Amino acid sequence: MEKRGILYEGKAKQLFETTEPDVLWVTYKNQATAGNGAKKETIAGKGELNNQITSLIFEKLKEKGIPSHFIERLSDTDQAIEKVEMFPLEVVIRNVAAGSFSRRLDVEEGKDLPFPVLEFYLKEDALNDPLINDDHVLALELAAEEEVAELKKQARHINQALISLFKQAGIRLVDFKLEFGKTKEGTIILADEISPDTCRLWDLKTNDSLDKDVFRQDRGDIIPLYQEVLNRLNQL
Ligand code: ADP
Ligand code: TMP
Repeated sequence: MEKRGILYEGKAKQLFETTEPDVLWVTYKNQATAGNGAKKETIAGKGELNNQITSLIFEKLKEKGIPSHFIERLSDTDQAIEKVEMFPLEVVIRNVAAGSFSRRLDVEEGKDLPFPVLEFYLKEDALNDPLINDDHVLALELAAEEEVAELKKQARHINQALISLFKQAGIRLVDFKLEFGKTKEGTIILADEISPDTCRLWDLKTNDSLDKDVFRQDRGDIIPLYQEVLNRLNQL
């Protein structure tokens, strides 16, 4: 397989076509953004760490019977992935109150939620990725009713697998964002990435952040934290 022309350049990754029609080449960039791109910095080593962490997590999920678009890690910063038709949705699962949930609903950060709370966001930068509900998803024809049910089922299942994986690494999975797509056969699978950019990860003992909140809130260098997440996952 060889890399062909660029298909898409996002905030964190570049997608390239390849000589295989159903395979994309993804390159993880050293760019960090927050607030829908309002804060933007180049951080050496970030692309490599997120590529390695995401690859490792997708491999662990596969071992647990959870498929994804991940095919293989090609280099420090690159992966081969299955090309899918993305749902323009971000599926967020929250196990612990934090971030926009705490701000919007005035719930103390760190409070365990009685059950995993699932939210949909419309993936549309121009609208600042607004929070939407199931009816919005159906009314805007972003997914069909049975697809919404499938997305929720898979997201909740992935949550259970990730909670257990991170717990073994001494990490509390506070919340995270998933994206899904449809293969050419019409199967819904997990896509995009799972990394400290897309999850809130707190040290189980200290509750210290090991994720992008440290960048969002100008609390220091994220590289040692992402490296710590990778080291802990690598030891499992
Ligand atoms: P953003 O688009 O939010 O700036 P990225 O820089 O991470 O984010 O860009 C990666 C893009 O690739 C996202 O828009 C994501 O929806 C899309 N994507 C992820 N996995 C796949 C896939 N398997 N096939 C096609 N597109 C994908
Ligand atoms: P939030 O509390 O800001 O809504 O974020 C919830 C989770 O989703 C958190 O783990 C970070 C992740 N997330 C993304 O991956 N991309 C985004 O664009 C946003 C807003 C959140």
